[in-house]
Amino acid sequence: MNKTLKITLKSIGILALLALITAIIGWLYLTSTFLDFEDDYAELKVLNELTLDGISFLDRNGNGKLDIYEDIRASMEDRVEDLLSQMTLEEKIHVLKGSGMASALGRLEPGEGIPGVVGTIVPTPRLGLPAINLSDGPAGLRIESTREDDKNTYYCTAFPIATLLASTWNEDLLEEVGNAMGEEALEYGIDVILGPGANIHRHPFNGRNFEYYSEDPLLTGKMGAAIVNGIESNGVGTSVKHFVANNQETNRNFNDVIISERALREIYLKGFEIIVEESQPWTIMSSYNKINGTYVPENKILLTDILRDEWGFEGLVMTDWFGGNDALAMIRAGNDLLEPGTKRQWKALTEAYEEGNLSEETLNTSVRRILKLILKSKKIENYAFSNNPDLKAHATITRQSAAEGMTLLKNESSLPLKDVKNAALFGIYSYDFITGGIGSGDVNEAYSISLEEGLTNAGFEINTLAKSVYQEHKAANEEGFVKKEGIEGMLNPTIPPEMGYTDEQLEQIMVSTDIAIITIGRNSGEGGDRKEKDDFLLSELEVDNLKRTTALFHKANKKVIVVLNIGGVIETASWKSIPDAILLAWQGGQEGGNAVADILSGKINPSGKLPMTFPKALEDHASHANFPLKGIPFDPMSMLFKSDNKSEDEKIRNEDYTMYDEGIYVGYRHFDKAALEVSYPFGYGLSYTDFELSTMQTTVENDTITVSLSVKNIGDVKGKEVVQIYTSKINTTIDRAIQELKGFVKTKALQPQEIERVTIKIPVSRLRYWDESKSTWVLEKGNYKIAFGISSRDIKGTIEVKL
Ligand code: BGC
Repeated sequence: MNKTLKITLKSIGILALLALITAIIGWLYLTSTFLDFEDDYAELKVLNELTLDGISFLDRNGNGKLDIYEDIRASMEDRVEDLLSQMTLEEKIHVLKGSGMASALGRLEPGEGIPGVVGTIVPTPRLGLPAINLSDGPAGLRIESTREDDKNTYYCTAFPIATLLASTWNEDLLEEVGNAMGEEALEYGIDVILGPGANIHRHPFNGRNFEYYSEDPLLTGKMGAAIVNGIESNGVGTSVKHFVANNQETNRNFNDVIISERALREIYLKGFEIIVEESQPWTIMSSYNKINGTYVPENKILLTDILRDEWGFEGLVMTDWFGGNDALAMIRAGNDLLEPGTKRQWKALTEAYEEGNLSEETLNTSVRRILKLILKSKKIENYAFSNNPDLKAHATITRQSAAEGMTLLKNESSLPLKDVKNAALFGIYSYDFITGGIGSGDVNEAYSISLEEGLTNAGFEINTLAKSVYQEHKAANEEGFVKKEGIEGMLNPTIPPEMGYTDEQLEQIMVSTDIAIITIGRNSGEGGDRKEKDDFLLSELEVDNLKRTTALFHKANKKVIVVLNIGGVIETASWKSIPDAILLAWQGGQEGGNAVADILSGKINPSGKLPMTFPKALEDHASHANFPLKGIPFDPMSMLFKSDNKSEDEKIRNEDYTMYDEGIYVGYRHFDKAALEVSYPFGYGLSYTDFELSTMQTTVENDTITVSLSVKNIGDVKGKEVVQIYTSKINTTIDRAIQELKGFVKTKALQPQEIERVTIKIPVSRLRYWDESKSTWVLEKGNYKIAFGISSRDIKGTIEVKL
């Protein structure tokens, strides 16, 4: 071997060795920092049950005595104080951060933990305190559905996305959905569900809008509180997220929201405030973003002054996963729990204490809140979870709720379907129906009913020619249909290629069917924002399919129905005149296809109402001037190794910072103020029947405006209506919205001719605005207009009241 070759080989060998050593060190660092670092803190599995003086209890610390914290008869405060007094400093610091990402990544010892649990409150074995399991998310519980060496399955119910749930405007129904979610968590041994999401739909492109309810804070707050109350009625906690103004995914871990105090108070905080007031959730999750320069989890004004001192929140605040930068700043700000927890944070807090920068008093404040949650949990009762929730009953609830939130946007004498036996389904999503969005808001369900299956279940015949076009297309594009798995699947939706039809195919399908149903699908989620081309806008192929199919079917007097299987707003103005009917089916969870069939067949009369505006054009949104439009994908490693030291000049608008220049003018507040025509207004949705609203009666007493009116079903089929109350200040000198939703109620299902008297109570305080100069809420004196209607642009009457 010649010398040069030898030297080259030797160099390659050394480099390979160095690379291997670096990889091993890197891996060891990663695992010991982010995955497994708990060492001496394994959960105590066996606790002695003692009976003393006729009382049976778990002797958690094994001292043979009944301690106050072990005594369920003692008050929560006394139990917490007793526990706190028994904890060492090390134990106190230890409990402030979770145990890392091992369980979320499936790195569990056999028999340990629950696969898919994404975070924990760590156990304190010396005192017999258990590990508390935290699991996503807003559309139902997210855990792994199968386990190694275990024949059982652990499927959860995929409920509809939050946006669909909000479209029901039905608080009782949402409480029922929450109750079902909570029961699933309880029976699978989960202590806290990481949801619901209460961020505002500031712009249609936010990839996570589907996890959130609405562009309006009142609707957000009411829906969120109902879900929280439902879940927590099971003794399972919630984590209302992402507090606050977390409205884009682009650069989400670093983005600085530059916002006025007024917009923050009236729009972005308001929903959370209502949730705290009406449901006092166990926990709140702080968001990744900064607000006016400070990371939310490090922001004392938000987490302590506003949330606790002003609103009276009694629970704990946890970070979003790897959120925030400085562990000490977070604890000091009132962010009690760092999730999922890293060894670096543990070390930083220990050092801060040793160096005198973290006082015991500050520590105790957060530890108390964590202990309270542990003592409230079912875990502490040793609840014997069954791993067998009532999935059948929950399937019924999810189907009902899905159907109730689906919103009929257009109906030209086409629905419910009459004289239709055979239906031709167009578009890949008719067969591959989308259940929900991706990321932590996704659920591992046992099955998902497509539109094709739903219609088949409802007794329709599915046109085989249309189906064969789909089958051939799928076979020819196999790879595009393979669902992305793991992290890749969590952060990037699988978007198979859409199919086209030849004239001949269309003709053959048309003559062999009674109706065309075209499904248009969209998916997005955590890790990226949406884009205009082929997402907000229909693709050229979709438009072409729609036009050609409709032209052909209309010639033969056959109808065309469009079903929108989407998670967020799309453009509709340019094409909505083409089909005969448009059903906004959203993403309806695992029973989505059955729910659509329920509506198309007329088994259920649609009663969904839009929780946001569908604009004519994207640019019509005031926030459009300041929103990232490129849909840059998110880099998960940036969360672990944060580098946040760009100079002011290097910062990129809408990525490093976003100006909320539109202030309070989000959604209809802006469209109304700017007198813009919209495609479909906030609060809009059609029914198969008509309702008549009587005039409204109003009283003002004890700081509450009470409005009541009668709703009469004047059509031929039974149905529900949503009465919406909008208020506005007459002759205001303040820059205020033209009208704001201040109350609503959904009727029961009214039979033809049936009348329901509805009453809506509106606290006068809800009519206040935030005065920036005084930094306080102010009620303008004078006359207010109270309007009632069935959408923000279909007002049936108004009354003036003097306040
Ligand atoms: C999401 C949270 C979620 C958490 C745990 C984060 O990436 O933003 O909504 O609860 O992960 O999965």
